[in-house]
Amino acid sequence: MMKVAKHGGNIYEVALERGIEMEEILDFSANINPLGIPDSLKEAIMDNIHIIERYPDPEYKELVKAIADYHGVDQQWIAVGNGATELIFALAASLNSKNSLILAPTFSEYERALLKAKSEVHYYYLKEDNGFQIDEGFKKMLNPEIDLLVLCNPNNPTGQFLKRQQMMEILQHCREHGIRLVVDEAFIDFVEGGEMETMIACMHEYNHLYVIRALTKFFAIPGLRLGYAVTSNENILGRIRDNREPWSINSLAALAGEIVLKDKTYIQATKNWIGEEKDNLFKALNAIEGIKAYKPEANYIFFSYGKSDNCLKEVLLSKKILIRSCGNYKNLTDRFYRVAIKDRASNEKLIQALKEVIYED
Ligand SMILES: Cc1ncc(COP(=O)(O)O)c(C=O)c1O
Repeated sequence: MMKVAKHGGNIYEVALERGIEMEEILDFSANINPLGIPDSLKEAIMDNIHIIERYPDPEYKELVKAIADYHGVDQQWIAVGNGATELIFALAASLNSKNSLILAPTFSEYERALLKAKSEVHYYYLKEDNGFQIDEGFKKMLNPEIDLLVLCNPNNPTGQFLKRQQMMEILQHCREHGIRLVVDEAFIDFVEGGEMETMIACMHEYNHLYVIRALTKFFAIPGLRLGYAVTSNENILGRIRDNREPWSINSLAALAGEIVLKDKTYIQATKNWIGEEKDNLFKALNAIEGIKAYKPEANYIFFSYGKSDNCLKEVLLSKKILIRSCGNYKNLTDRFYRVAIKDRASNEKLIQALKEVIYED
């Protein structure tokens, strides 16, 4: 039986193990917008709570329309899901890949979904000495055996980001070699100018391209769950629709999609917050002896500290601060960590706590 993968955000387990209340934990392990649920959504849910008394539209027409309008694409090209995760598994099941290539490290559900779909998973090992960037050797990995490539952009947990120009080169290369390309843009809305870099803009010309999106992180609704996939490959979309279980998105999550994408005030407030805090936290982390933080593109920062003993996570937990140890990612060790960028006061608490544990050691 497949085990549930370990992710950030498991404050349930931590609270239970330590005998502390969840509310007492300052959680830097899940990369969720600290502005919280948009007010527009709170109001809409309160005003429309009665919609849970009926089944959702099995085709989610209003939701699909809202997403299509937001991106300016054909409604036919969209599949919606219960978080991006549902689409990751649905896409893997529909693509019928024999040999896939993913980055190591990357978001672990891709490996699970592809293995479940009986694809042999190959890895491109990112290297610490070039900042975990994709380098010249990458294209060599795209040998004739490979029929599917998955790139998380930005990558999780490393945060490394490919601009559209670089992604286009990879897309062209994939087309020439008969390789399907899945680009996971779960965090792209947090990237400065991310809307100019999305591969959704290239859909009409390439039907071997699949983009996965999540609304869970940017709009702070991981518990409500909503994501979607965009592709002009109607054959694969048909398979996804045929295979899916009905009503997997609950009525309130579907309503959320119709509301939040139109909430320009919240979107702008989020861009203002991330614009201010990203650099502050990055600099403050790098100023601490022994920490090497990698330049963030999205709303989280990847860093290394000291030797391989996972010490930071444990000592910070005694201060009720939870960070993501990256030791269980393929190709990383316990020396690596990831923290979410939160509001100013929380970020300062993290820096203060890190200084205490590192300098008073
Ligand atoms: C790259 C990436 N894609 C997808 C997901 C899953 O998103 P969702 O919560 O919408 O299923 C995550 C969650 O951390 C992620 O890191």
